[in-house]
Amino acid sequence: MTQHIHLPGFQLGKHYIETPLVLAPMAGITDLPFRMICRRFGIGLTVTEMIASRAVEQGRERTDRMAELGPDESPVAIQIAGSDERFMIEAARWAVERGADFVDVNMGCPVKKICKQVAGSAMLRDEPLVGRVLQAVVQAVDVPVTLKIRTGWDESCKNVENIARIAEESGVQMLTVHGRTRSQMFNGHANWEDIGLAKAAVSIPVIGNGDVVDGASALEMLRISGCDGVMVGRAVQGNPWVLQEVAAAIRGEAKPARPDNLERWTVVEEHLLQLAAHHGEAFASKMARKHAAWYSKGLPKSAEFRGLFQRLDDWSLQLEVARAYFVEGHVPLSDMQKAA
Ligand SMILES: Cc1cc2nc3c(=O)[nH]c(=O)nc-3n(C[C@H](O)[C@H](O)[C@H](O)COP(=O)(O)O)c2cc1C
Repeated sequence: MTQHIHLPGFQLGKHYIETPLVLAPMAGITDLPFRMICRRFGIGLTVTEMIASRAVEQGRERTDRMAELGPDESPVAIQIAGSDERFMIEAARWAVERGADFVDVNMGCPVKKICKQVAGSAMLRDEPLVGRVLQAVVQAVDVPVTLKIRTGWDESCKNVENIARIAEESGVQMLTVHGRTRSQMFNGHANWEDIGLAKAAVSIPVIGNGDVVDGASALEMLRISGCDGVMVGRAVQGNPWVLQEVAAAIRGEAKPARPDNLERWTVVEEHLLQLAAHHGEAFASKMARKHAAWYSKGLPKSAEFRGLFQRLDDWSLQLEVARAYFVEGHVPLSDMQKAA
C-alpha cells in the first residue's frame, strides 16, 4: 500500500502552485468549457490545448478560440508548438498578450503531421534545436516558460535526462514528462522510472505524466519518479471527479465519494451549455457527442443512450435527451427517433 506523499507545491514566477495537480492539454478536449469544469475539482494549473505557432501567424479565428482563457483562469499556460524560432517567438508573445501566466512549449506531440515538420516530439532527436528554440522563447517573454516532453524518440534514443538539462540551462522553469517515447504513441504503460531520470537530472520542478487514473496510481507514480507534481489526461474524460480523488490523495485526505446522479447531471448540463456558449451550437453538438459518451460510461443503458445521442446533431435536442438520461435514467428512444 502506497503511503501519502507530501507535495509542498512550488513557486513558478509570481505564482505559487499550491496543489501540483495539472490538467493535461488534450487537443479537441481541454477547451475552455472543460478546463473550467476541471478547475473546480482541485486542479492547480491548467494548460490550453496545443497551438501550432504557424497557426498564430495565420491569425485564424479558431486559433484565438483555442487560446481563450477564462476570466478567473489563473494560473494557466498557453501551449505552443513549432521548431522555427521566429514563429515560436511570435506565438509566445501572442500567448502572453492573451493573458497566459506561463508559456508551455510542446515537444511531446507524436502526431505524424506535426513530427514531419520536425515539431512536437520529433524535436527530441535534435538536441541543439531544442536548446535554440527554448532559449529564443525564454528570451522573448517575461513570464516563465515551461516544457512538455516525452522520454525520447524511441527505445534506442531515450534522452530524457539530456533534454531536461538542456531545458533547465535554457531557462525553462518547469518540465512535464510523459513517460513514453514517441514510437510508443499511447501503447504499453508509461515508464515512471524514466520520468524519475529527468527529475534527478535537474532542480526545476518536474511534473510526471502518463497513466495516472486514480489516487493510488498518482501516489505510485510520485513514489517511483520522485516528481514534484502530477498531470492527469485521459482519465478525466467523462470523469472530472477523478481530479478530486487525486488531489485528496496527494494531500493525504480520504477518498471523496463518487458523484450521485444529480451531481453528475449538474456538471454535464453546465458542460453542454458552456460548449454552446464557447463554440456555437453547431460545433458544440459535435463536441457534445464525445463528452456525453464518456460521461455515460459504466452507467445503466449507456449503450442505448450513446446510440441515440450520437445520431442527434441538434444541440437543444441533445440537451433534452441528456437530461432525460442523466436525471431520470431514461432513454427517450421512440419520441426522439421520430424527431431525429
Ligand atoms: C486526444 C488527446 C489529445 C492530446 N493533445 C495534446 C496536446 O495538445 N498537447 C500536449 O502536450 N499533449 C497532448 N496530449 C497528451 C496528453 O497531454 C498526455 O501527455 C497523455 O495523454 C498521457 O497522459 P494520460 O495517460 O494521463 O492521458 C493529448 C492526448 C490525447 C489523448
